[in-house]
Amino acid sequence: MTGDEAQQRHAALSEQIRAHDHAYYVLARPAISDVEYDRLYRELLDLEQAHPELAAPDSPSQRVGGQALSSFKPVRHAIRMMSLDNTYSRAELLDFVQRLQKLLPEAKLTWVVEPKIDGLAISLRYENGILTCGATRGDGATGDDITANLKTIRSLPLRLQPSADGKPADELFDVKSPAQIPEVLEVRGEVYMTKAGFEKLNAARVAAGEEPFANPRNAAAGSLKMLDPKQVAARPLAIVLYGLGETRVSGSLAAELPATQHEMLAWLASWGLRSPEFHRICGSPDELIAAIDELDRVRKDFAYETDGAVIKLDPIALRERAGATAKAPRWAIAYKYAPEQAQTTLKAITIQVGRTGALTPVAELEPVFLAGSTISRATLHNEEEMRRKDIRVGDRVTIEKAGEVIPAVVNVVISARTGKEAPFDFPKTCPECGAAVARAMGASVDDLGVVWRCVNYDCPAQVRGRLEHWCSRGAMDIEGGGDVLVTQLVKAGLVRDVAGLYRLTVFDLANLERMGAKSAQNFLAGIAASRRRDLWRLLFGLGILHVGAGVAKSLARHFATLDDLSRATAEELTRIEDVGEVIAKSLVSWFQEERHRLLLEHLRQAGLNFHSSSYQPEAPAGRLAGKTFVLTGTLPTLKREQAAARIEALGGKVSSSVSKKTDYVVAGEDAGSKLVKAQTLGVRILNEAELLALCASGQ
Ligand code: IVH
Repeated sequence: MTGDEAQQRHAALSEQIRAHDHAYYVLARPAISDVEYDRLYRELLDLEQAHPELAAPDSPSQRVGGQALSSFKPVRHAIRMMSLDNTYSRAELLDFVQRLQKLLPEAKLTWVVEPKIDGLAISLRYENGILTCGATRGDGATGDDITANLKTIRSLPLRLQPSADGKPADELFDVKSPAQIPEVLEVRGEVYMTKAGFEKLNAARVAAGEEPFANPRNAAAGSLKMLDPKQVAARPLAIVLYGLGETRVSGSLAAELPATQHEMLAWLASWGLRSPEFHRICGSPDELIAAIDELDRVRKDFAYETDGAVIKLDPIALRERAGATAKAPRWAIAYKYAPEQAQTTLKAITIQVGRTGALTPVAELEPVFLAGSTISRATLHNEEEMRRKDIRVGDRVTIEKAGEVIPAVVNVVISARTGKEAPFDFPKTCPECGAAVARAMGASVDDLGVVWRCVNYDCPAQVRGRLEHWCSRGAMDIEGGGDVLVTQLVKAGLVRDVAGLYRLTVFDLANLERMGAKSAQNFLAGIAASRRRDLWRLLFGLGILHVGAGVAKSLARHFATLDDLSRATAEELTRIEDVGEVIAKSLVSWFQEERHRLLLEHLRQAGLNFHSSSYQPEAPAGRLAGKTFVLTGTLPTLKREQAAARIEALGGKVSSSVSKKTDYVVAGEDAGSKLVKAQTLGVRILNEAELLALCASGQ
């Protein structure tokens, strides 16, 4: 086969495979058998092996390409990714409708109701039809670049497929001319793990002695965070798209841009992008409620978990007028369905001691099936909650799973009482180590003074909890460091604190039960790799009261090293985003404690990374930071030096020549060539009064 022939055959095969992927993963209407598909795919791989230059980034063979990454690069979203306000109440939903009607009095409001998919928000960027970037939402302004991971998702096209929807696979080849492909198309949606895929994955994990995921959402999040796309490819992920980010189109496409949400969903589908299978257009509150109820009836049959309905103003032009708050648009709202409940018998109450010493009462239940899994334990939160609900051993109870990891006991079915139920005496000492318990501090701001805590820092349950937390996926991510192994390590006296992990040897592990040579090596390799983790992971892993992953990330952006953070005062800390007084105090007192200082010394000696890779030195303060000015001519009151001093005092730069990079030219009388150049380049021109106004407002 000549090079030309190979190229032609490759192009034909690629198109066929894309069309079949679309038919199978997006339309759920396979057009050929698996064997036939595999044959096409094999031929494509063989061709690429013989002609490696044919393996372009958007070739169907490139879904699982490249090396594992060491971290994800940050991506700034061209348009902010917002969140949604939500409500559980129909009355509030009607308030929302009325609010918008008041805001847009003359408009006839129409709505679209869509499922609220319980996955992870992502943004995809197609440039000239080719997928160039896929990112997480992150904080809305900046997310992580997870392109390589997203490419493994089969329902996500690596290139836009014009007019792909609704046609049989063999008619999918009428490619539009390139002039009609958007220059930039950013689409937004949700990556999820299918319910069926989740069950299978968890069964496999349990069989392999690994921790199961709590729910499909966590499983999807965990999967997308993996650094090796090959592993991600093995996870049953899929994608649904429901929104637009940046769009840059020209020619006839500009006129075709959708004017409403429902047109947008169809438009996305016409590019081969999968949109939600359910949406209803509603013109009145009654229709809204009917659509929400209808969705509630059918959503159990969707491949993904849903926790509500999203109600969006249909006409896109009206959305701009409705605007947004800091976090969420005013033109949309999520209506959450009441969590699923079940009834069962409470057989016993046990007490769990957590890593912060908290004593949590746990209901041991007659196993019952609820929202996709069998439940045999549920949290009773704390002693006060138990008293308030008057929970007794032997009670018939209602339990609920509200998207949280752990189900909770909601109430007692009083009518089912027989008189044989026994009240529970909350222990006065730690059931784990016998030490005293106290109610001095709270692990979260809202449990202050409610939670009993074991006061013994060396309580084995606390030690185990701290170690497990350190190893957990969200913190230092040390594979294998789950409860079984950690319990063994603590019981055998091999490890007393997290620094102890870094002194473990193969010999230490060899004597533990159920520990093969391979697992021991893997665990040690995981520990070794954790030395280089980002500072925020270490900070979160330390389990400092109130310091969650989000706060840890903020701290790591603000401080270059752990040592800098350890020296910060409470006042300095409260100036940081997400850090209030409670957190600042908790941090300062944590770093003051002798045993924590010692622990940090041991971690330093063990070679852990104390430097922040996300450190962002503050940009020069001032309203005009980053702006370049050129002064020309004579100003009415200010001397040139005075004007320059004002600009510089606010962080602006004064330059002597005008270029494309100049932000403003300040022109006075007799301004000459610089003014002309500014005019030709389209640079903004200010007079003195406008300059002073700018200095005052920063706009
Ligand atoms: S629209 C500016 N539509 O829910 C509008 N979001 O709780 C932003 N979500 O961040 C989102 N299904 O991750 C929209 N049909 C849907 C959705 C949806 C799920 C997620 C999304 C968002 C979160 C807010």
